[in-house]
Amino acid sequence: MNAWVSRAISLIESDFNRSADTHLIKVDLPATPGIDLYLKDESTHPTGSLKHRLARSLFLFGLCNGQIHENTVIVEASSGSTAISEAYFARLLGLRFVAVVPSGTSQEKIEQIGFYGGECHFVAGQDIYCAAADLAEQTGGHYMDQFTFAERVTDWRGNNNIADSIFTQMQTERFPAPKWVVVSAGTGGTSATIGRYIRYRRLATQLCVADPEHSVFHEYYVSGDRSLTTHQASTIEGIGRPRVEPSFVASVVDNMIKVSDEASLATIHFLQRLLHRRCGGSTGTNLYAAFELIAQMHAAGDVGSVVSMICDDGERYAHSYYDDEWLAANGFDLDLQMAHLEEFYKDGAWSV
Ligand SMILES: Cc1ncc(COP(=O)(O)O)c(C=O)c1O
Repeated sequence: MNAWVSRAISLIESDFNRSADTHLIKVDLPATPGIDLYLKDESTHPTGSLKHRLARSLFLFGLCNGQIHENTVIVEASSGSTAISEAYFARLLGLRFVAVVPSGTSQEKIEQIGFYGGECHFVAGQDIYCAAADLAEQTGGHYMDQFTFAERVTDWRGNNNIADSIFTQMQTERFPAPKWVVVSAGTGGTSATIGRYIRYRRLATQLCVADPEHSVFHEYYVSGDRSLTTHQASTIEGIGRPRVEPSFVASVVDNMIKVSDEASLATIHFLQRLLHRRCGGSTGTNLYAAFELIAQMHAAGDVGSVVSMICDDGERYAHSYYDDEWLAANGFDLDLQMAHLEEFYKDGAWSV
């Protein structure tokens, strides 16, 4: 094997060896005492999001496939989080990294890509994929293509993947096998890993994917139409896609719930009171759907556990989701949804 490739794989493995697992936080919901809610806190990875796992896997995949060498320019189409994590690993290996990002990407994310030495290439329309493929060709680089490969770069049977970690951490809980695991989808990689793992381990757990507005995943799940597209970008950064991504595996998903942007954003503001910290928008989408399932279980007299996910930290969105002026300028009034969430918290009822 080429010495540089061998050294690169060792560097990534050592980085992994130095890293701790992410926490599984228990959230108290007094009105639904028969149901335990947990949040897998993926914001505590070194690069602040669940994409740290994906970036590590994409680099190892590219190295072991013989696609990444010394001096290979790494190119990715990303709405931000993946690019931050890939920039980190590119810097670890001493490689140039270029992120092709939508022009609306938050300033905080752009700064973090730059912090790790990555460059940003802005694209106005939706077609970040073609722009990234073109750029890789022009530079003789390697297009990581997370939207195609996210579902296959992770070892879904175990090897401390996210599902393995969740189910191991749940082992000594009151209800060790969750009734539901609730996540959202950008690439669909996280949901594919968890869904396959559930089947492989023959667990009774069901997988629910929460989908925001301006995304085709839910409609595709219902209709089976892979050609669906939408022109408006998702407000919730990182999740909700304008096309059915190749890496989204609908067949491992047991249920999908559509979540309005107002509901996602109200939920992160509500969660701030429960956890005393800020989380990113996709955490709100996940948690809103988890609350809905908990309310249904509660109404049916069911007991059990529900696991969802904190995908990234809210500080990345200080100038958007947590800024009153931004909310007003984008037409968001969260009062109704906040009242609805308060009611759920107080009596476990779901009135919408
Ligand atoms: C903040 C955030 N949450 C959730 C997701 C969804 O994860 P996945 O790509 O595994 O579907 C992403 C993906 O980009 C993300 O950036």
